[in-house]
Amino acid sequence: MFFDTHAHVDDEQFSEDREAVLQRALQQGVTRIVNIGCSREAALNTLALADRYNFIYGTVGLHPHDAKDFDAAFLEDLRRWARHPKIIAIGEIGLDYYYDLSPREVQREVFRQQIRLARELDLPITIHDREAHQDIFDILTEEKGWETRGIFHCYSGSEEMAREIVKRGFYISFSGAVTFKNAAKLKKTAQSIPLERILIETDCPYLSPVPYRGKRNEPAYVVKTAEAIAELRGLSLEEIAKATWANGCRAYRLDTQPE
Ligand code: NI
Repeated sequence: MFFDTHAHVDDEQFSEDREAVLQRALQQGVTRIVNIGCSREAALNTLALADRYNFIYGTVGLHPHDAKDFDAAFLEDLRRWARHPKIIAIGEIGLDYYYDLSPREVQREVFRQQIRLARELDLPITIHDREAHQDIFDILTEEKGWETRGIFHCYSGSEEMAREIVKRGFYISFSGAVTFKNAAKLKKTAQSIPLERILIETDCPYLSPVPYRGKRNEPAYVVKTAEAIAELRGLSLEEIAKATWANGCRAYRLDTQPE
């Protein structure tokens, strides 16, 4: 059993064949998916998917790209959506200093407000960190965000930073990027951090693992990421599947029994 802990299956790239994509995931043993509702539209789509499919759970939050659109009304909507029993985290939230699609000071303020919401609701957070490592750390410390626990999704930092994250109780989620030939740093991190803190994700439709690189990604391909980590750690695919399943359940506070 595999757990795709971060997917965007509501994306319009799946609008022609979403049902087939989900069936392929199940056939490959990907029997649990967390869909990320990180905009108004994505949050509503995520709620609908979670209602329709028993193996899909969801998050709600506002992506740092759209931080400029955050206001009190949106915060109120998040609070309401998060009451749904299958909404299990606030995310993805954080900072993106690579694209800078919202002013950085706005991104930081919106990140803070959503950490406070997660603390209020006692939910873990899913973090998007692109070239903003220091500010992410500082804000998590200032807002006591480490206490909510959560996940650094699509991890892209250093091995040393991963150790600091793990020490503070968070999880590190690896995407298809760990299968890339030029990902030496990431591979080393996947090799060395404690197994019980590793999650796997697709972040589909983006970031397809080898050998699908450049094509549309989908949850079934999370198996390729699991294979890469198994090889790096000298473990069997079954061992990685079992560990990352248990870790995903712990990180998102879900039952370990599949649906
Ligand atoms: Ni994502």
